[in-house]
Amino acid sequence: MHTDDATHAHHDDAENPDYFEAPGWEERYAGAHAVWSGRPNPQLVAEAGSLPPGTALDIGCGEGGDVIWLAQQGWEVTGADFAAGGLARAAQHAEQAGVADRTQWWQVDAREFDAGGRCYDLVTSHFLHLPDGGMVEAVGRFAQAVAPGGHLLVVGHSPEAHFTELSEAKRRAMFLAADLVPGLPTGFEVLVAQQRPRTVVRDGVSIDIDDSTLLARRAPE
Ligand SMILES: C[S@@+](CC[C@H](N)C(=O)[O-])C[C@H]1O[C@@H](n2cnc3c(N)ncnc32)[C@H](O)[C@@H]1O
Repeated sequence: MHTDDATHAHHDDAENPDYFEAPGWEERYAGAHAVWSGRPNPQLVAEAGSLPPGTALDIGCGEGGDVIWLAQQGWEVTGADFAAGGLARAAQHAEQAGVADRTQWWQVDAREFDAGGRCYDLVTSHFLHLPDGGMVEAVGRFAQAVAPGGHLLVVGHSPEAHFTELSEAKRRAMFLAADLVPGLPTGFEVLVAQQRPRTVVRDGVSIDIDDSTLLARRAPE
């Protein structure tokens, strides 16, 4: 996905009360057309592009654009999402891209995410927004899935001026990178906590947005 699509989708869904629940997302993924572009997110390419391939987990993976890109770089990737329809599309796209053998899928609600002993060299999440600032606490749980010496990359929208058309609930779900830092457990070093500007086209109009970007590394054992 790229944020052209993400911002467009946010705009369309501004008053959708199901935005934070799986049925609303299942409905979107049941439509005739792809919801996202299939292209990898720019901050993933910027940060993971220089990491040696290993195992990765993408939480809120949607139709799998980032999962497929990582698999194409040589990673063994698990895509996680609470929407079965998104995961089904992602698996189909991975098959079409010839990387099905390097991908797995996990249906899970990020609000109840429990690593359960699994660990990955990279845990990534792009444009997952949980209600009532829930991403701060989620960062702590996602971090439990990071292997020693591994990385956590979380990217989302900041509640900027051009998002004022959104409901208050959706704006409260957005975050600045710095907001997430207190969610990190001890033993993590913050490598990046930045608002990264990017120009996207929404409804034919170019707008400047910020990608709230947190990259942290867990200390090696
Ligand atoms: C804006 S989309 C981003 C998709 C993907 N990361 C990308 O960049 O193309 C958000 C995704 O998060 C998923 N999602 C939203 N809330 C979730 C939750 N509580 N648990 C798991 N997945 C969730 C949605 O189903 C959707 O696929």
